[in-house]
Amino acid sequence: MRIDIISAVPDLLQSPLGHSIVHRAVKNGLVEIVVHDLRDYSTNKYKSVDDYPYSGGGGMVMTIEPIDRIITKLKSERTYQEIIFTTPDGDRYTQNVANRLSCLNNLIILCGHYKGIDQRIRDHLITLEISIGDYVLTGGELAAAVMVDSIVRLLPGAISDEVSALTDSFQDLLLAPPVYTRPAEYKGWKVPDILLSGNDRQIADWKLEQAMTRTRRLRPDLLEDHESTRSQSDE
Ligand code: ADE
Repeated sequence: MRIDIISAVPDLLQSPLGHSIVHRAVKNGLVEIVVHDLRDYSTNKYKSVDDYPYSGGGGMVMTIEPIDRIITKLKSERTYQEIIFTTPDGDRYTQNVANRLSCLNNLIILCGHYKGIDQRIRDHLITLEISIGDYVLTGGELAAAVMVDSIVRLLPGAISDEVSALTDSFQDLLLAPPVYTRPAEYKGWKVPDILLSGNDRQIADWKLEQAMTRTRRLRPDLLEDHESTRSQSDE
């Protein structure tokens, strides 16, 4: 898989993409992540990539030309299945979207900035608009980092215990059950006996029940989706 990220502040992406699972996946050749500095595609000597909005109003707007130049160049080199724009008014980012994107070969993420981007870019170049939540960030870089992290960890071989990616919260529309590690008792705080029993069947039942209980308490909306997905798969 290859992910191209276009940003006017590429340094913001260095740290989130330079460590841990994402970094290892890049080193092991599971994913190629290329960060492009949008300013390199500016056509003026100040390397600016924004301008004042027509009809006034505050804030600057990202201009078409540098974005069109880099996207056109990338598209001439390979086929992209999605060209994503990060924006608070985009579609809500969920585990389902991450799962789908992790199956693609090539994708571009354009990080929004300033007050927005010229609408014509959204109309003519972007195939998917994504928001990572109902709040406004100063730019789309952190949103892009969130997306890349959640996509890369799904790639086969990215995490050593592949089962763990499949048992994540949200993967089956349930929150994950609680987990414990050694010691079995600390300051009188005990690990539930069932987890020490060695009875796989009962442990699996306990985990499912815990997941259901937590989901019912914290995210009842997910449980409705879980029930309807289960009844569909039973049909
Ligand atoms: N850019 C600014 N806020 C954002 C958000 N919530 N999601 C994605 N991109 C953004």
